[in-house]
Amino acid sequence: MQPGDTETELGVPIPGRILEEADWARTAVKRLPAPGPLDWSAIFGRSAPLVLDLGCGNGRFTLGSAIARPEMDHFAIDVLPVVIRYATRRANQRGLHHVRFAVKDAQTFLRTYVGDGAASEMHLYHPQPYHDPRQAHKRVLTPAFVSDVHRGLSAGGLFVVQTDNPDYWHYMTRILPYFFVFEEHEGTWPDAPEGRSRREIVARQRGLHIFRGAGVRRDDLDLREALDLAASLPPPRFRSHGPWIELDRWEESHR
Ligand SMILES: C[S@@+](CC[C@H](N)C(=O)[O-])C[C@H]1O[C@@H](n2cnc3c(N)ncnc32)[C@H](O)[C@@H]1O
Repeated sequence: MQPGDTETELGVPIPGRILEEADWARTAVKRLPAPGPLDWSAIFGRSAPLVLDLGCGNGRFTLGSAIARPEMDHFAIDVLPVVIRYATRRANQRGLHHVRFAVKDAQTFLRTYVGDGAASEMHLYHPQPYHDPRQAHKRVLTPAFVSDVHRGLSAGGLFVVQTDNPDYWHYMTRILPYFFVFEEHEGTWPDAPEGRSRREIVARQRGLHIFRGAGVRRDDLDLREALDLAASLPPPRFRSHGPWIELDRWEESHR
C-alpha cells in the first residue's frame, strides 16, 4: 500500500486514505493504566466529546466516524488482539490522532475505565450472539452492561446498537427502553450506505436482515434505579431457551 491509496474490504472501500509516513499517528494503547477512570484529555491532548466503540472488530466504524467527525475523540476496544492490530495500523496510516484502540473486554473496560458521564456516544455493532446455549453467559449485552452504558454516558448521550441476530434484537428491544428512549432505525445509516462495520457488510452479503437502533439516555433514571434494573432484569436468554418467559414474568411482577 502506497500513500494516497484507498483500500477495500469485501468490495467496499475502507474510509480514508493512506498518508505519507511522516503524517502517521500512534493510535495503539499498548497497556491500559491501573484500574480507574481514564483521563481522556491526557490521552487525547485536548478536551472533546468522546465516542466509544465496544467490540470494534477491525475498527471500520471508528475509522469512518473519526474521519467524518474530527471534532470528536474516539476510543475503541476489542477483546481480540489480532483485530486491534488491523484497526490500529489503518488508523495510524490515516493520521487519526484523535483515535485510540486497546485490547480489553467491553465489560471490564466500561466498569473499570469509563467514569460517570464520560462519553457522548457508545456504539455496539454486532455483538457475538453465541448460538451455543453453553456460551450464552458470554453475551455482552446484559442488564448490568446496559446500566454501565447508561452510567458512562453524559446527559442526553447516545447508545447505538446493531445486530443481524433476530433473537438478540428482540431481547435488546425489550431491555433497552428501560434505560433509553430507544428507537429502531429503518434502513441503512446515511453515513455508510454499504455498511458501518465489517460484520454488517458480511451479513448483508449473506442476505441477512440488519436490525439497527439508537437510544437517547434516560436522564430521569438515577444510578440507584439503574442498578436495581441491572440486578433484577433477566439476562439475554434467547427464544431457544423458552419463549421469553423470564422477561414476561419480570414485567408482570413489576407492573
Ligand atoms: C461479530 S464481531 C463484530 C465486530 C464489529 N463490531 C463489526 O460489527 O464488524 C464481534 C466482536 O466482538 C468481540 N468481542 C467478543 N466478546 C467481547 C467482549 N466481551 N468485549 C469486547 N469485545 C468482544 C469479538 O472479538 C469480535 O471482534
